[in-house]
Amino acid sequence: MSYRMSSRLAIAALLATGTATVLAASPPTAPDERAAETVAHMTTDELGTLVHGPMAMGLFDMKVPEGAVPGAGYIPGIPRLGVPALTESDASLGVAYLMGIRKDGATALPSGAALAATWDPAVLREGGALIGSEAHAKGFNVLLAGGVNLVREPRNGRTFEYLGEDPWLAGTLDGASIAGIQSAHVISTLKHYALNDQETGRQFIDSRISEAAARESDLLAFQIALEQGQPGSVMCSYNRINGAWGCDNDWLLNRVLKGDWGYKGFVMSDWGAVHALEYALHGLDQQSGEQLDKQVYFGAPLREAAARDPRYAERLKDMNKRILRSIYAVGLDAYPPVVKPIDLQANAAVAEKAALEGIVLLRNQGALPLDAGSVKRIAIIGGYADTGVLSGGGSSQTHGLGGPALARPRGGDGPLAGFLTEQYHRSNPLKSIQAQAPGAEIFFRDGRHVADAVAAARKSDVVVIFATQGMTEGLDAPDLSLPDGQDQVIAAVAAANPHTIVVLETGSAVLMPWLEHTAAVVEAWYPGARGGEAIAALLFGKANFSGRLPLTFPASESQLPHPALAGSDTIEPDFMGNGHAGQSLSVDYDVEGSDVGYRWFARRGERPLFPFGFGLSYTTFETGGLAVQAGKQGVVASTSVRNTGARAGAEVVQVYLTSAADRPTRRLVGYQRIELGAGSSGKVQLSVDPRLLARWESNGWHQAAGAYRFALGRNAVDLGSAVDVQLPEKRWQDVGRAIAKRKGH
Ligand code: BGC
Repeated sequence: MSYRMSSRLAIAALLATGTATVLAASPPTAPDERAAETVAHMTTDELGTLVHGPMAMGLFDMKVPEGAVPGAGYIPGIPRLGVPALTESDASLGVAYLMGIRKDGATALPSGAALAATWDPAVLREGGALIGSEAHAKGFNVLLAGGVNLVREPRNGRTFEYLGEDPWLAGTLDGASIAGIQSAHVISTLKHYALNDQETGRQFIDSRISEAAARESDLLAFQIALEQGQPGSVMCSYNRINGAWGCDNDWLLNRVLKGDWGYKGFVMSDWGAVHALEYALHGLDQQSGEQLDKQVYFGAPLREAAARDPRYAERLKDMNKRILRSIYAVGLDAYPPVVKPIDLQANAAVAEKAALEGIVLLRNQGALPLDAGSVKRIAIIGGYADTGVLSGGGSSQTHGLGGPALARPRGGDGPLAGFLTEQYHRSNPLKSIQAQAPGAEIFFRDGRHVADAVAAARKSDVVVIFATQGMTEGLDAPDLSLPDGQDQVIAAVAAANPHTIVVLETGSAVLMPWLEHTAAVVEAWYPGARGGEAIAALLFGKANFSGRLPLTFPASESQLPHPALAGSDTIEPDFMGNGHAGQSLSVDYDVEGSDVGYRWFARRGERPLFPFGFGLSYTTFETGGLAVQAGKQGVVASTSVRNTGARAGAEVVQVYLTSAADRPTRRLVGYQRIELGAGSSGKVQLSVDPRLLARWESNGWHQAAGAYRFALGRNAVDLGSAVDVQLPEKRWQDVGRAIAKRKGH
């Protein structure tokens, strides 16, 4: 061992147990170089350490390994070399509650759909930094976050975790969240790679799609998030993609991720997604949650394979190098987690701000904002609004101290059934509304009986009716109707009182057969730790609405590319989306290709109930003309915006491509949220990513020569006047590689 090496390892070992300040004094070394050095000093046993690990949940008969924090998983470290253990927790919306096993609480951010509805990377970044810091303060150094599967299938039970249907919006927001998490020296994943777009049959469904369609849609979202967030790890998915399992997919892992995109971090498996040793050769670097697989393939079998087969020996070194590289790049060894108390009160303010920005006003017939001075009798109906706000189920479930205010069973028994229950955060809409209108008389009705709800509606000035769509990992919604007969109650209440305001707490889009009869509709999603307070502040105009839909709300399921959920007629899913042994399922994503969400609606000329990008405000905005310039720096769009109303608010400027080389299309190519005081104006300039103008053709991007037409959109349907720009023909190999190199990734 050279002196240089031994002193560096000694420092690393010291830092693993001590404080972080020493490292700042020593010269920084590139993570690649450090990783290579450490690998060179690893024994055969040590080479086998970082590449697999168990679940650490303490559920069933699984013990929490020594040194682990109760959480999703654990990978032992190598103290001799100063390599820290990986202590892993879910997920993107907060440090997962794990049914209270740690007996602690964490800040629950609003759902991914709500965060995406902010169209504000700063909110995602701040939220990421918050959950990263909370993870760190609980002893975790890996967050299984960064979910960016596109909403191809709005009935997907995990729609609430993800960031909408558009690759640019979802990718940029996800990148911001990942960067925020990693600023706390906690590795974030980017997941679930890829095309894991529904839960039904998730452990065996085959997502069939052409390369071009995948590159222009789901893969593009991952690629953008990767470039902007530089995640230490990518989690491969359960499903198959064009026949090959997500974690055994040579094309997806070796060719696209590590080849074309130049990714230097490591690929970890989803829990229970490894079915053979050969996965190592096809790009998987770490077997997670190993008790769920038939064998610990990356344990003894991998070590033995490495002893006899140079391909495995080489891969084993590469796997270690990749894991170490991320450990060093994110500073896990230099800044180890320090368990300390968390100021949940202060952090809840961040969750509340995110909710205020992400809640969307869908309809307002002059009913909102409510005037606390004049409204005397308010009926609040349904949605357990006297108790809490809904959250999403499954591994991402997060709760504050004391756990859920209410957990409503969805059937089944045993510990896993607990993950499925519909759980409510301790943030009370009823009390928050009462606090906004202390002089008003408030009635609550649970909404179970139509007659009772109608009677309450009749004797009040205003009705606020809460409706919920509980969604969870492991189960898709059978359709987009509100469950539990809520449509019937809303319709009856709206008929009884014209001042009916509907507040939706949904994971995804829902149908609204009663829409025309309501005075206002608010999409509050799963609004997080301070959701009740945020809803009330917006209803009473203490804050202005600025959220915009990150996914299309269809008028009917017949408008979707897949009018019925794939497998809904054949697969009987269990909690893990397994279905039953021997079943198989495939879904043909070439039906819509890369025209996901609003792009499909534009292609078919279908009018949705509410389009992607839609959202109202208490003020009004006027945008100036759109100018688009094509130069050496690429395409740049600019405009000005003025707040023409009487109160402060935020507009989300959206620029769409409506035809490319004379071919009609619809594509969000830039967006920016801008806050403006009453009467004030601002300028917006957006650089268009060249991939959004191009098509994927024969192994690369192709921008055909011709006229490209752009328009400002209030949303994906309401477009302003068009601006044409001539662009030359261009072909290039993946720009991701160039961008990754530039950022030193
Ligand atoms: C989920 C992942 C999660 C993992 C660990 C899996 O079932 O798909 O998103 O990170 O469990 O809890």
